[in-house]
Amino acid sequence: MMTPESIRWLAYPEAITGAVTCPCVVSTWVTGGVFHRCGITYGSQEPAPERLVRQKKSGSRKQTVMTDFFDSRYPSIEHLRQRARKRMPRFAFEYLEGGCFSEVNLQRNTDEIRQIQLRPYYLRDYAGSNLDTELFGQTRSAPFGIAPIGLQGMMWPKATEYLAQAAFAENVPFILSTVATASIETVSKITEGNFWFQLYHPVEDELRDKLLDRASSAGCQVLVILADTPTFAWRPKEIRNGLSIPPKMTLRNIAQMTTRPAWALGQLAAGVPEFKTMKPYIPKGLNMKHLGLFMNKTFSGRLNAKKIEAIRERWKGKLVVKGIVNEEDAEKAISLGVDGIIASNHGGRQLDNGQSTIQPMTELAKKFGDQTTLMIDSGLRSGPDIANALASGAKFCFMGRSFMYGVGALGKNGGHHTISMLKRQVQQVMEQLACERTQDFPKHLIK
Ligand SMILES: Cc1cc2nc3c(=O)[nH]c(=O)nc-3n(C[C@H](O)[C@H](O)[C@H](O)COP(=O)(O)O)c2cc1C
Repeated sequence: MMTPESIRWLAYPEAITGAVTCPCVVSTWVTGGVFHRCGITYGSQEPAPERLVRQKKSGSRKQTVMTDFFDSRYPSIEHLRQRARKRMPRFAFEYLEGGCFSEVNLQRNTDEIRQIQLRPYYLRDYAGSNLDTELFGQTRSAPFGIAPIGLQGMMWPKATEYLAQAAFAENVPFILSTVATASIETVSKITEGNFWFQLYHPVEDELRDKLLDRASSAGCQVLVILADTPTFAWRPKEIRNGLSIPPKMTLRNIAQMTTRPAWALGQLAAGVPEFKTMKPYIPKGLNMKHLGLFMNKTFSGRLNAKKIEAIRERWKGKLVVKGIVNEEDAEKAISLGVDGIIASNHGGRQLDNGQSTIQPMTELAKKFGDQTTLMIDSGLRSGPDIANALASGAKFCFMGRSFMYGVGALGKNGGHHTISMLKRQVQQVMEQLACERTQDFPKHLIK
């Protein structure tokens, strides 16, 4: 009989050959081999992924949470990206990868982060490095978190849930997009209310208030509003693939799915991805085309002072504006009472002629670093990239694609692996520099 567990096994055929981690979460890794509580034991030619398991008490239940999972076959985001490319249908992978127009801004983001150089001090007294970073009253285990991504479940089944679980277990922030494929309430349950919510701006104030109230009742501490999406972007790959919101099921797209069995069977088990947070407001029985029109009519991308004021008035938690890259906008946002800014250009997905986000960072930090919490995303793909962003004045970093490559490559374990790998990479850079705390990175910047 086809049980949910056997469907999951079929969805991960590589697990049977030992090529990837078994999806059974209650497994135990032992040196040189793998033992699973789901009843399957198999040896591995590869070094066994490292995994620590910690017991966490959640209400009356004792929960086992995995932390610090690391699979040495994928020691960089590029390794994860290559593996994800083989496992995701092309239209889904291109949706994740793509930037706007000629993808100049997409490339520039990473290129310019990598221009930055840091100075090590080898002969100084050094007491060891610690990745703990304070952010909005919480001590996080790393100076980076997971950026909001729409349509995650289309790219990999249950991607939103997997990343929320990993972020919660590893104590890094997770930002849920309004158009992700798990609801506010589901993510709140996974994270025990320790999550951030990114709001797309509904045209109707009533819908905005309903979403804010739901996020607040679910325990969300930080609301993120978007400045950098005043228009629908021109992304050639998405246009060619018929990938609007929601995706069109063209014959070409369907053909691509059939060549990606792990993805296809995972989707079968998980069910059709939906905009779960928005579901209560979407009229029933809409076909794909009309659902797209409904979403376009429901949200208006352009942010202005009036909208920020109205949100500030209603939202009692921390408020962050994402997408600000110049001093004028930063000054205005701060004057309207926001608590933080994420310097972002949507990962090169909106304005091809735009600056990289690292470019204005040092100036923004000089002017506003003590008035607001300055964060950054777009183009970061490694520990050294994170180190350079922190050295340039960002207090905290976010990444979008990197974590999705992790999930595309390793499914449920992808978020854990990516977080753990990036932590180790940042740690190595800190040790090399003799940088003891993440806030000390600017002292190593070569100007
Ligand atoms: C496929 C994809 C979907 C995204 N969807 C959203 C979204 O729904 N809301 C949002 O605020 N940002 C969204 N972003 C932007 C990310 O939050 C983040 O700014 C960006 O990915 C950072 O760049 P990086 O991917 O180079 O790390 C999306 C980015 C990608 C790649």
